This record gives sequence, structure tokens and C-alpha cells, in this order.
Amino acid sequence: MHHFEYRDGVLFAEEVSVTELAEQYGTPLYLYSAATFRRHFHAFDSAFDELDHLTCFSVKANSNLSVLKLLAAEGAGMDIVSGGELYRALQAGVDPSRIVYSGVGKRDSEIREALEARILMFNVESLAELERINQVAGEMGTKARVSFRINPDVDPQTHPYISTGMQKNKFGLDIELSMKAYKMAAEMDNIEPVGMDCHIGSQLTSIEPFLEALDKLLNFYEKLKTFGIEIKFLDLGGGLGIPYNEEEPPHPTEFGKALSEKLKSLPLKVILEPGRVIAGNSGVLITKVVYTKSNPSKNFLIVDGAMNDLVRPSLYGSYHRIEEVEPHFRDPKEYDVVGPICESGDFLARDRELPEIHQGERLVLYSAGAYGFTMSSNYNSRPRACELLVDGDKVIVARKRETYEDLIANEL
Ligand code: LLP
Repeated sequence: MHHFEYRDGVLFAEEVSVTELAEQYGTPLYLYSAATFRRHFHAFDSAFDELDHLTCFSVKANSNLSVLKLLAAEGAGMDIVSGGELYRALQAGVDPSRIVYSGVGKRDSEIREALEARILMFNVESLAELERINQVAGEMGTKARVSFRINPDVDPQTHPYISTGMQKNKFGLDIELSMKAYKMAAEMDNIEPVGMDCHIGSQLTSIEPFLEALDKLLNFYEKLKTFGIEIKFLDLGGGLGIPYNEEEPPHPTEFGKALSEKLKSLPLKVILEPGRVIAGNSGVLITKVVYTKSNPSKNFLIVDGAMNDLVRPSLYGSYHRIEEVEPHFRDPKEYDVVGPICESGDFLARDRELPEIHQGERLVLYSAGAYGFTMSSNYNSRPRACELLVDGDKVIVARKRETYEDLIANEL
């Protein structure tokens, strides 16, 4: 069952015509399907039913308050990486005891906010951070629950910008140094080491790197026990990939089964931090062709969405499937789909074969629900797009389109 599908030649988001939404709310427009969010969350979460577990949605993938509320209502915890994300999660009504906090550069103020909120735990990424958390917790007269994020030095075979578990990456603690970290933590007055964490990268399309990392962590877990350090939580991060084009990532069920196999006999609560696999294919970006133009080597579709709205193609060379919102079934032609921004790096697709498209027609870019709006900016003083959450025949304006006034609201 797909929640973005054509009915009588028109694209629908659940029960609502995308053409009508685009006419009413304008473009560029992010559209999310509530049913798809729910389905993806439960497909992932139930894949771990054999284990005592908690699925924490990775807020960075899609931080819209309406989306967070929807997921929290389904039972999701949250994985955050900043004070801003903590604020959003709390505003969305997420139970703080279901929030985990990762990130290499947590500031004192952010540590304090997370302690005040009584989150489940910090995923600590350096000894310096451990010292800071101990200090801040001490000042507040409280104790901080921590996990160490272990860098297992495993190659996740994904884009270099989103590989995080190799020694050359800034993330986590080297596995050899981690023992020292646990011993230090165990002796600190205001720290309670409760878990172990790892996140090796994003958009992984095979299970092997996850299993390789897990084996290293479980080895380390056994070693920890011999030192008398007992932990309760094992956080395996996020990273499961999705099909954008022809990728064939494992289904969450297969992923859950493979991990559960190795974990079910252990007395650990397993935490997962999926982002993309829940949000990616729950959202699309609608854009309209402003002009077409051709030269001897290229045909351009100049659309009203741009790299400030969806930066993934420019930043990672990533692929988003494109179709017409109202298909015309014309003969195919090769296009560069580009935005109005003054950079040649501003494109949404290059050398893409599409049916011939005319000025004024609308396109849908799929798989834009994760790292789409959250990575958007105001570059070229473009107000950020509107976000709509469609739930059956209900349309929620999850975020109003920004105005020119919004652009300068904080400026002198
Ligand atoms: N946990 C941690 C600690 C993370 O750093 C991330 C993503 C996740 C969980 C969620 O990973 P996911 O399940 O979504 O793969 N902007 C890039 C992706 C950056 C991912 C950063 N960390 C993109 O558009 O492809």
C-alpha cells in the first residue's frame, strides 16, 4: 500500500490531490504522509519485538513538530543531537526518559538543559565531554547517565560525508581507549555509566557492517563485565538505508532479525536510532517548472525548488526520483533539473531522462522526507518552503511557508 499514488492521472497524497494542495499552498512544497510515517515506524519497531528495546527516532532527519508529535503518539522515543532538538522533542510532548543525546560537541548549556529535562542518557563521544558532563551534573547536584559512543572502525560502505564509524571520522571513542573511559566514568561522582553506543553511518544498504560493529561491541561488553562494569543499554544507532533509486537495502524485518539473533540472550535493553528509514519515503517535495531552456548540450528545467530547499543532490550527488504530478505521457528527453540559485551546484537532478515537460507543470521529487526540510536554508534570501502533513483526507499545515518578513525578523 503506497500513500503517494496516481488516481485517474493525478498524484494523490493519501486522500488528497497533490495538484489541489499545490494550488492552494504554492510550491516548493513538502508533503508528508502520516500513514506512511506510522507504517514505517511500526515496521521498524516491531522488527525488534523479540528484544527489550526502544526505538528513538533520529530528530535530525525530520524535526517538524507535527511529525515528532505523531511519532511520539505511536510510542517513539527520540535521538537528539542539540539543545534545539531537545527543545523540539520536549515541545512535542516526548517523554524525556525516552530521549538519548548524541553529538561530538555538546556545550555546557545543552548538557544542563538535558540534565534538567532528565533524559535517559548522554552518548558521550570524548573524555573531555565526560569531564564536562561530570562537572555540570556536579554543579546541579545530580548524576548523569552516560553511554560511550564507541567507534568500532568499520567501513559502512556509504558516502564519505555520512560514514561515521571509521578511525578517520570525528565520532566516538576508539575502542581501545574506551575501557579507560568506563573506568574513569565509574570513579566519577556525578556520572553513572549505563550503556554502550555506536552509530557507524547512514544510508547503509547491507547488514554486514552493522553485524561487524555489533560483534566488536559485544566483545567489548564481555571485557567490561570482567572489570565489574555492568551496563543496561546497548544503543546501535541508526543508519539503515532506503531505496532512492535502485538500491536494495535490507527490509527492517530482516535487519531486526539479524541483530536480534545476536542479542536476544543478553540482559540488555537495545536502543535504535532510525531516521531515514522512517522519514525518507514518507515525504515528497513538489516543485513547479518556472522556465525551460535548451542549448546545444543541455535541456534545463528551471524549477522553483532549489538547493536551499533540498541540498542532498548538490551536497552528496544523491538521487531523488522525479515524476510529473500530472503525467502527460510525452516522449522522453534528457534534462538537468535546476533551481533559481546563483550557483552551478544548484541542481536537483542532472542528465535525467523524463517525459518532455513544459513550463508551468509540476514535478514530484520522491524520498524527500528525511534530511530535506531539516537541511534547508534561506540562501539567496529564499523563504523556506511550506510543510504539510496529510493524514487521510485531513491536511495539517505543519509549517507555514516563510514570508519576506520572516527573512529579516531577527535582523537590525
Ligand atoms: N544516530 C546518530 C548518532 C546519527 O548521527 C544519525 C545520522 C542517526 C542516528 C540517524 O541515521 P539514519 O537512520 O537517518 O541513517 N544528511 C545526510 C544524512 C546524515 C546522517 C547523520 N547522522 C543525508 O541527507 O544523507
